[in-house]
Amino acid sequence: MAKEILLLHGPNLNLLGTREPEVYGRVTLEQINQWAGIHARRRGVELRAEQSNYEGLLIDILQTAATWASGVVFNPGAYTHTSIALRDTISAIGLPVVEIHLSNIHARESFRHVSMIAPVCIGQISGFGWQSYLLGIDALLAHLGLLPAPE
Ligand code: DQA
Repeated sequence: MAKEILLLHGPNLNLLGTREPEVYGRVTLEQINQWAGIHARRRGVELRAEQSNYEGLLIDILQTAATWASGVVFNPGAYTHTSIALRDTISAIGLPVVEIHLSNIHARESFRHVSMIAPVCIGQISGFGWQSYLLGIDALLAHLGLLPAPE
C-alpha cells in the first residue's frame, strides 16, 4: 500500500486566492491541494488535504493522523505564533511534521518571527508562496527516506 501523508491548513487559508494576494499570491487552496496531490503521487505517495479555522479541530485531525499518516505538511496560519496546544499535539503524536508558510514570516511583523511549533517540527519552509508546499512534501519524504537520490 502506498504511503499516505497529511497536508493540513489552518485558519484563513481557505481564503487563499483573494486574501491579501500581494502577500499570499493568487493561487487558491483548491489549486494548492490539487498540485500538492499530483506532486506527492509522482513520488509514489498519497496525500490527504484538510483545512480548518478551528484550533480544536486541527488538534483532532492531527491526533487521528497518527493512526494512518506517515507524516504531516502543516501550515498552521496564525496559530503558528500562539498555539502551545498545537505544539503539544505535534509532540504527542510523534509524527514528523514540516512547518509551512507561504510568506517569509521572518521578514514580516515581529510577532510573526516566533513559531510555537517550530521546535517540535523536523523543519520549516517559509517564503516560497504556493511552492512552499511542494518543497515541504519533498522535505518530509527526504526525512522518511522516500526521496530518490539524484541519478
Ligand atoms: C502564514 C503566515 C502567518 O503569519 C499568517 O498568520 C498566516 C499565513 C503563511 O503561510 O505565510 O495565516 O502561515
